[in-house]
Amino acid sequence: MNRLRLGVNIDHVATIRNARDVSYPDPMRAAIIALEAGADGVTAHLREDRRHISDTDIVRLSAMLRERGQPLNLEMAVTSEMLDIALKHRPHAVCLVPERREERTTEGGLDVAQGHNWIAPFVTKLRDAGSRVSLFVGADPHQIEAASRTGAQVVELHTGAYCDAVREGDRNAAETLLIALGQAAAQAERLGLEVHAGHGIDYETVAPVAAIPQVAELNIGHFLVGEAIFTGLAAAVVEMRRRMDEARRAA
Ligand code: PXP
Repeated sequence: MNRLRLGVNIDHVATIRNARDVSYPDPMRAAIIALEAGADGVTAHLREDRRHISDTDIVRLSAMLRERGQPLNLEMAVTSEMLDIALKHRPHAVCLVPERREERTTEGGLDVAQGHNWIAPFVTKLRDAGSRVSLFVGADPHQIEAASRTGAQVVELHTGAYCDAVREGDRNAAETLLIALGQAAAQAERLGLEVHAGHGIDYETVAPVAAIPQVAELNIGHFLVGEAIFTGLAAAVVEMRRRMDEARRAA
């Protein structure tokens, strides 16, 4: 089976930095450590309220990754402000996500079925600028089908509900949600979409998701940054990669 790529999301390095008015810990440093430990790319979410990643972080990350020839995956809301920023930096990949100010993290997928007329022009503009466009969606056949009609090349499946069910010990829900993720991945591939997955993944949940054969990339952040406190970021990325590769080989 093809090798699974790992995008490391460094948002929460910036969350710690922003707890004080200082310049450390530097998300750039985290990005370099993650790449050197085996990440294939760096993911960052520039939120409307700039609660973690800042505009300057995106400028610096974008320049550094371009120089290294490694991909930046910019997560952003479907707003004209974010579109202007993305068109300025032309990152390798853009993942369009829903965003609400009051949420603590990205709580659900995009409603592409309802939002087609709003989302599709963003996809076209970002594609025309050379970015690979991904839509962050739940494992819902209507959303996958709608995503394919926008012209996006990729869907990223929201794994949050599955990961929550595993952590809460709700085996039945976890099993049902994992089946839905597998079916969504198969449907997306049939429609010609590349499949990514992410949100809430940790050492326990990574293997079942990595074993879904259509999944080409995982984006993982919060758990890795948390684990870095205890083991260091490089060791956490190495261990996550090892578990991904092992699950892939066994699948
Ligand atoms: N993928 C997407 C689209 C996201 O919005 C996020 C969170 O920013 C992630 C992956 C990473 O999620 P986590 O930080 O829970 O690993």
